Amino acid sequence: MRRIPLAIILLAVFMTVSCAQEKDLKIGVAIYDFEDLFISEVRNAIVARSENDIPVTVVDAEGKQQRQNEQIEKFIEEGYDAIIVNSVDRTASGVLIEKCMQNNVPLVFFNREPVKDDMAKWDKVYYVGAKAEDSGRMAGELMASYWLSHPEADRNKDGVMQFVVIKGETGHQDTELRTEYFIETLLEKGIALEKLHEDTGSWSRREGYDVMLSFISRSGDRIEAVFANNDEMALGALEALQEKGYFKGRYMPVIGIDGTPAGKAALENGMLLATVFNDAENQGRAAYNIAKELAEGRVPDSDAVGYEIIDGRYVWIQYRPLPGLLLSEK
Ligand code: GAL
Ligand code: CA
Repeated sequence: MRRIPLAIILLAVFMTVSCAQEKDLKIGVAIYDFEDLFISEVRNAIVARSENDIPVTVVDAEGKQQRQNEQIEKFIEEGYDAIIVNSVDRTASGVLIEKCMQNNVPLVFFNREPVKDDMAKWDKVYYVGAKAEDSGRMAGELMASYWLSHPEADRNKDGVMQFVVIKGETGHQDTELRTEYFIETLLEKGIALEKLHEDTGSWSRREGYDVMLSFISRSGDRIEAVFANNDEMALGALEALQEKGYFKGRYMPVIGIDGTPAGKAALENGMLLATVFNDAENQGRAAYNIAKELAEGRVPDSDAVGYEIIDGRYVWIQYRPLPGLLLSEK
């Protein structure tokens, strides 16, 4: 038998192993609802990041947790190496974590934060998100700066801001904390408040429109300010207000959150008072980078992932205030 140099054998073995690994690895991405605009931005960022790297398969739960459970079971059966999850019902995360733990498939949650007890069930569970309280605080600061520099905003001259809140999905950490910190920040600035109404618009423009119309029919001109928990609902509210004669001579301060392209357009045309930028691109990239490390069998560390990992399992992407024309002209 002719002898083949050892180096060549090693090279051949190395190439087979590394090719096989790259060919086999795959990441599943389970999204709560493809119709959610902000989440679509994160989804697009994940897909873009995966190009020329470990491929992703993205599935839509259409707002149904049962469907998402089945999709994740399928990922497990088909041998996916890591799963990125935007859960439908964040309180259902515990069940998903247990299932993945039994099959040793690491998980990266994003945007819909599992409760701490569930996160603690296994060490191959990560979360990428943004601190909801920061966005509420920034929205409160933006509203305060408008109110304090525009005395005419207090229409009935009672020294109190009569406001309404269009809330996001009930039970979502962003809904509860954004609303709470918005109010707290205004109070800290010494602004007296009266909340006339609050209702959920489920993150949707259509529902934000309906909710705003009902607020207007109940309180009309008594409303002096509007806080919507995201831009889509803020845009729905702007539509309703416009229909009722606002923005032709009289103004209504409306603040949203996300800084979606449509939200930014409304900042530029002067209708939206302000928004808070929710960084979809970096949330998507961070989630992918963590999933990649896990899929390749490593313990993700901040350097490899490119984002700081806190407490061994959290990556927090910063919000940023985006003041509209009325605020930046000052
Ligand atoms: C929020 C975002 C909303 C909606 C929601 C979905 O962070 O501001 O627009 O996308 O996540 O969970
Ligand atoms: Ca007032």
